[in-house]
Amino acid sequence: MKNTVITFQEMKKKGEKISMLTAYDYSTAKLIDSAGVNSILVGDSLGNVVLGYPDTISVTMEDMIHHGAAVSRGAENALVVIDMPFMSYQTSVYDAVVNAGRLMKEGRGQAVKLEGGVEVCPQIKAITQAGIPVVAHLGMTPQSINVFGGFKSQAKELEPAKKLIRDALAVEEAGAFAVTLECVPAKLATIVSNLLKVPTIGIGAGAGCDGQVLVYADMLAMFSDFSPKFVKHFADIGPAMKAGFEAYDKEVKAGTYPAEEHTYAMQDAVYDEIVKYVDTLMK
Ligand code: KIV
Repeated sequence: MKNTVITFQEMKKKGEKISMLTAYDYSTAKLIDSAGVNSILVGDSLGNVVLGYPDTISVTMEDMIHHGAAVSRGAENALVVIDMPFMSYQTSVYDAVVNAGRLMKEGRGQAVKLEGGVEVCPQIKAITQAGIPVVAHLGMTPQSINVFGGFKSQAKELEPAKKLIRDALAVEEAGAFAVTLECVPAKLATIVSNLLKVPTIGIGAGAGCDGQVLVYADMLAMFSDFSPKFVKHFADIGPAMKAGFEAYDKEVKAGTYPAEEHTYAMQDAVYDEIVKYVDTLMK
């Protein structure tokens, strides 16, 4: 059954945990969807994982639309949330609504996610009023990496923790239907999860959140540029892929691949005629 914002609300009410993973392409989205994961985030971690940037700053609207549309085609039941990239909503409320609209119309997402608290509440309100569900993202917000001075856990001290609580209440009030909490102390995330009526989706925020999200390439050990403390490898696909690539390379170079069973046959009579034809060409 298709997961919607209502599914998220109901799961929170019933105390059922929400699962979310990132994806950036059709085939991965199909696999995640068929595994029963509730939601797929087309994260702007696309920048790191797929495009090879050191951060998410350079990711464009076109990137998000292109990959969002591919994921949407593969997600039958999972709720597809598409990240609003850096500077697609910070500049103005108008830009935020127009760009959120493009992610829905062209990217075929069912919701958008944007980073920030009180300062982006006007954007959250306007996007929501335009009929587009919004996930807010608090804590370690990667688009602000240059303000944080790196990928660092957030809200560990009293004042930043109080600010995070105020931000969470404000984004809920502005209309966000879920709040991502990234790299914040587990105890704080539990407090926020208990305070909010909408679900929290944690990443590096402990088990007290209403749901969890991970970058799929992290949890499958496919991405190795950096590995945050909260990442667990649920399968060793990265090493398995590398072993497969090495075996292919070896067989191609040894001439053992492709074998007979990987080739298309031709009738002997046709082959004989071709040989004759080539002979005539060469004369
Ligand atoms: O871009 C992303 O993948 C995200 C998750 C880390 C929550 O925002």
